[in-house]
Amino acid sequence: MFKVTIDNQSIEVEAGTTILQAARLIGGDIVPPAMCYHSELKDSGGKCRTCMVKVVQGSEKDPRPMPKLVASCRTEVMDGMVVQNITSPEVIDARKAVVEFLLINHPLDCPVCDQAGECDLQNLSYEHGTNASRYEEEKRTYDKIDIGDKIQFHPNRCILCYRCVYAADQLTDNRVHGILYRGEKSEISTFVHQAIENDFSGNMIDVCPVGALTDKTFRFKNRVWFLKPMEAHRNCTKCSGKSTIWFRGNEVYRVTGRKDTYGEVHDFICNECRFDKKQASDWTIEGPATIVPSSVLNQNHYKNVVIPSVINPIKETME
Ligand code: SF4
Ligand code: FES
Repeated sequence: MFKVTIDNQSIEVEAGTTILQAARLIGGDIVPPAMCYHSELKDSGGKCRTCMVKVVQGSEKDPRPMPKLVASCRTEVMDGMVVQNITSPEVIDARKAVVEFLLINHPLDCPVCDQAGECDLQNLSYEHGTNASRYEEEKRTYDKIDIGDKIQFHPNRCILCYRCVYAADQLTDNRVHGILYRGEKSEISTFVHQAIENDFSGNMIDVCPVGALTDKTFRFKNRVWFLKPMEAHRNCTKCSGKSTIWFRGNEVYRVTGRKDTYGEVHDFICNECRFDKKQASDWTIEGPATIVPSSVLNQNHYKNVVIPSVINPIKETME
């Protein structure tokens, strides 16, 4: 077992554990945000840089610090490693810069975006964004692409995290889209309009951290903060049937996979459960769903941030 200390809290983890996974085992506010890493998607991570941390001691044997901030989702712990996340003003500054960078091209259309209220980038912007942009050039825009009657694709909102590419690759048997070109010219493309054909393609909506892929059967019908999410299941021959169904009154507005504390789905659901089962009678209700703590759906989330005592010395930085 390797001992790692993150923001003054220590834990012993198996060799091969990443800093992000170790932080999640400790839990709380010291867990770095992650937009491209998804624990159920092999090879995900390393694209968005929101999870960067500072390694102030490499290991017990070689205590030299790492010269630059590292992506915690891709960096494995060493025995005796010491890491700073929210206790490092340098990390907080870098995270602000990453959010500013992501917002260079991402449109500020939260008021009309169906992902508002459960968007990782919106949450990050609340915590680390500035109220003005220094970018004077025009934002990059793409032509609209129709990918069928179930999934709405907004390429302008895409942050090129690759999660939907890995989801299509690993959950379906016919990935037909990917990311083309490099740098500013990168775009998600190639037969993306065929992506809807597969029974599990709807999971791309759940893994998309922003509003680039949204549910057409729910689009513009309601705001998520007016809905009551309930955990429910049904006997399904294609998937586990374990879902979250979102009610307003007695009406089911949408069906999604169940998301954990980090917004990740572990039981991926099929398109039939997601798009075709919109009657309460289709489901066995288990009880109220837990809302992701980082979501603005938690009332007053941003007013009541509890800063753990171990990081009080940098409380001012956080504020
Ligand atoms: S569409 Fe969404 S999931 Fe796919 S690469 Fe873009 S931001 Fe990521
Ligand atoms: S979550 Fe680590 S780089 Fe994106």
